[in-house]
Amino acid sequence: TPNKSSTVISFVCRGTLVHSTPEEALQVLEDALLGVNSDGKIAFIERGEELQKLSQIFGFDPSAVTQLEQHEFLMPGMIDTHIHASQYSYSGTALDMPLLQWLNNYTFPVESRFKDLEFANKVYTQVVKRTLRNGTTTACYFATIHTDASLLLGQIANDFGQRALVGKVCMDRNDFVKHYKETSQESQDETYRFIKELLSKKYPLVKPVVTPRFAPSCTEALLAQLGAIAKNNNLHIQSHISENLEEVELVKQLFPKSGSYTDIYNKCNLLTDKTVMAHGCHLSDEELALFRETGAALSHCPNSNISLCSGVLDVRNVLNHKVKLGLGTDVAGGYSSSMLDAVRRALDSSKVLTIQDPKHKTLTFEEVFRLATLGGSQALSLDEQTGNFEVGKDFDALRVNVAAPGGPIDLIEDENPKVLLEKFLNLGDDRNIMEVFVAGRKVVPLKKP
Ligand code: GUN
Ligand code: FE
Repeated sequence: TPNKSSTVISFVCRGTLVHSTPEEALQVLEDALLGVNSDGKIAFIERGEELQKLSQIFGFDPSAVTQLEQHEFLMPGMIDTHIHASQYSYSGTALDMPLLQWLNNYTFPVESRFKDLEFANKVYTQVVKRTLRNGTTTACYFATIHTDASLLLGQIANDFGQRALVGKVCMDRNDFVKHYKETSQESQDETYRFIKELLSKKYPLVKPVVTPRFAPSCTEALLAQLGAIAKNNNLHIQSHISENLEEVELVKQLFPKSGSYTDIYNKCNLLTDKTVMAHGCHLSDEELALFRETGAALSHCPNSNISLCSGVLDVRNVLNHKVKLGLGTDVAGGYSSSMLDAVRRALDSSKVLTIQDPKHKTLTFEEVFRLATLGGSQALSLDEQTGNFEVGKDFDALRVNVAAPGGPIDLIEDENPKVLLEKFLNLGDDRNIMEVFVAGRKVVPLKKP
């Protein structure tokens, strides 16, 4: 029986809910009643037939309930655990080189331009709008080394109502594009300034992340300083790890005394239960065990892994090691900013592993749906607030119409909710995403901030 307390209900919806729990990759609730309170939190999830009773307990008007249409469902908003907002301008291009050359030839020159706040404003506004329309309710962003532009990204996410982790990138080593780096002292001081100023804005949904780019672009001293900053201020941490074999080799040369790539981050206190590391394609089982021990998470970025020919992450093995895992688009190494694309590439990658070894247990679409939602919230340590539909969590949700007029999906006959979800994941796009809610606030259709 729901607990009334003094909650004011601001929104009630009746229809099909699909979401994940730790026990069930896909849970379908048909004819459910979901209420959201004025703080944007889920106040109740009950059966539709309880409408009269609920309306009395919570004091809302039963005729004001939003009835979902046939072919519609609510699902949790998707969580992009790794996206470079600063690389959005060239997404869909420049995919003809492996990682290290790609960084030097395309990425660093573009990121250098974010000294210009006008350019930053253009790119960051577009990426926030696009990802929201694509159903990304939470994004974990890399910005650039520029503090003011990184603060602007936080402001833009807040203005459009997206939940976001934002990182000012740290790098005190760059032998190729020599002007795109900081001194160790600058990197440390600017990280402090970024954190302090972002927190002082009191944006309710935006948090700073300590962001060493990756081991090859940081000295060990800087890594250790950043680990200390994160620890002393209980902050999130993000970086890259073991994406490409040439990179792994370079790390061995640059850090000859360390046991493994994972070991370097661990020694610098950069592996915590608030850490998310992108890729991890080439991690050993021992390294995965260290992730498990420290509570650090991985972000699986399958489009990028394929597009830059980096490797294929064995997600099944990561899950067997009980390492927290979410999905990431990794724009612009990944060419699509859509989490639906990440879902499809994750399924394809798993099938490639099964082609190579028929004993490999292919991921199911239900499992990948969970990675895109609940898994992402766990990877970002935000699962107390978001990731699925639970009383007390924030209402972060997509209203999906699988048969949206003018949309990409033709339904020949009525289908059950599980089939509707599978069709949306494989065939759908933003034309099927009728509304997006973050913390109870409708953010799509987009509002002009
Ligand atoms: N490793 C270090 N920086 C980057 C980046 O910007 N993108 C990707 N995919 N990998 C990286
Ligand atoms: Fe990345």
